[in-house]
Amino acid sequence: MNDDDALEALKRLIFSEINLDCQQYKDKYLKRRLMVRVRANGLSGLDEYLSFLRTHPEEHDTLIGTITINVTQFFRDSSMYNYLAEQVIPDIIYNKTEQGRRVFRVWSAGCSSGEEPYSVAILIKELLGERIDGFQISIHGTDIDDGSLSKAKKGVYSRDQLKNVDPKLLDTYFEPFGENYRVTREIKDMVRIKKHDLMADRKQTNFDIIFNRNVMIYFSREMQERLLMDFYNSLNNGGYLIIGKTEILSGKARDVLTVISGPERIYRKDKA
Ligand SMILES: C[S@@+](CC[C@H](N)C(=O)[O-])C[C@H]1O[C@@H](n2cnc3c(N)ncnc32)[C@H](O)[C@@H]1O
Repeated sequence: MNDDDALEALKRLIFSEINLDCQQYKDKYLKRRLMVRVRANGLSGLDEYLSFLRTHPEEHDTLIGTITINVTQFFRDSSMYNYLAEQVIPDIIYNKTEQGRRVFRVWSAGCSSGEEPYSVAILIKELLGERIDGFQISIHGTDIDDGSLSKAKKGVYSRDQLKNVDPKLLDTYFEPFGENYRVTREIKDMVRIKKHDLMADRKQTNFDIIFNRNVMIYFSREMQERLLMDFYNSLNNGGYLIIGKTEILSGKARDVLTVISGPERIYRKDKA
């Protein structure tokens, strides 16, 4: 079997046995990730990995983790968080206050082990202080990868994973937990972690900010365009979409979203 046939057979097997639909990942990306597992298992190529996967169910979870790489950090891309703190969140708070609306909804789509939604929760709490009681804030962190989701739910991080967190914030929003740190109850209560497949599951709506950072980079162009329009439809009027620094807006979303900061990849849904 040549490499392309083996790749197609692997996609079918991963879908039927592991329940992960790989059709919308770029082939080049998928091949690269699969080769990581081929080498790790001392095999010769995709063809051999196909047979291996059939007879080694314990490989399934590792493969999901490898395909859906979940590298992340607290306050990843500090300049984006500065923009968020100085422009985006104050704008949303101002509008909500003017309109007498209390509900503030955020979605971190592809949240990995939770660093992104917890960073946003900390930022909102810092900005609002005691005024936070006047709002009903919910931050939804969703991902497809069970391993990442279980870490996100625990909210426990090592010192190294917290290296980007300002010492004052570390002191205020984390508590020692063995050799590690755990996010405080107050921050945890602002965040809901849930399994959700961006390619297949129903979209949620009425968000004020959607983060989809460093996720769609692995998806095909067609899927990226569809996803961007899904996010557009999931936003409230005046809501913001924030994508990864190396990602670009493509398809119809380019026409309907207003660029707020090109370098920070921040866009807004304005009234049509
Ligand atoms: C590189 S991490 C990005 C984490 C965070 N957004 C950040 O920028 O630091 C990409 C995440 O996207 C998730 N992901 C990949 N495909 C997905 C899908 N179809 N639905 C939901 N999440 C997905 C992965 O499991 C992974 O945790």
